[in-house]
Amino acid sequence: MAALKYLPLILLLSGVAALADDHRARVNYQIHCQGCHLPDASGFPGKVPRMNDFVGYFLHSREGREFLVRVPGVSASRMSDEDITEVMNWLVKTYSADQLPSTFEPFTVSEVAVLREQRENDPERTRMRILRTIAADVPELAAELAQTDQ
Ligand code: HEC
Repeated sequence: MAALKYLPLILLLSGVAALADDHRARVNYQIHCQGCHLPDASGFPGKVPRMNDFVGYFLHSREGREFLVRVPGVSASRMSDEDITEVMNWLVKTYSADQLPSTFEPFTVSEVAVLREQRENDPERTRMRILRTIAADVPELAAELAQTDQ
């Protein structure tokens, strides 16, 4: 039972570790991604897709999940598999928590390592095909697509 004495300390330290990871992910996003995606992940209409309140929709299908890591900006990034995994998990939760399915499981490092090797060659076409398929089951996305003509 002596271990119980340290429980508050252990909880505190693990909380601090989680914060540190979020901080590292944010800094990596600032360095490697926000030049194109902007600090609020709103992108540039017609050029860089909006991830804010949107990117989570992709997690409703396996293909969509895979697409998020296979896009060139992610797969060809200079970051390590570990750092990319951290950024991806931080990104979807920070910018698009409301669009995530309730079954969402965080990306794993081994998953990201494999997907990075399968770079997407035609992102624009593939993304629309994936989004239309998901929209058939997710009315909120269907409404978004109709409204913004993405
Ligand atoms: C040079 C500009 C650029 C950089 C840097 C960049 N991206 Fe992208 N990103 C894009 C464009 C453009 C797309 C749309 C797909 C495509 O054409 O590649 C995209 C698509 C995405 C997507 C898929 C979302 C969607 O709606 O299609 C994700 C996720 C993503 N980027 C994350 C990142 C992350 C994370 C980083 C940093 C590691 C990053 N990007 C760096 C330009 C960039």
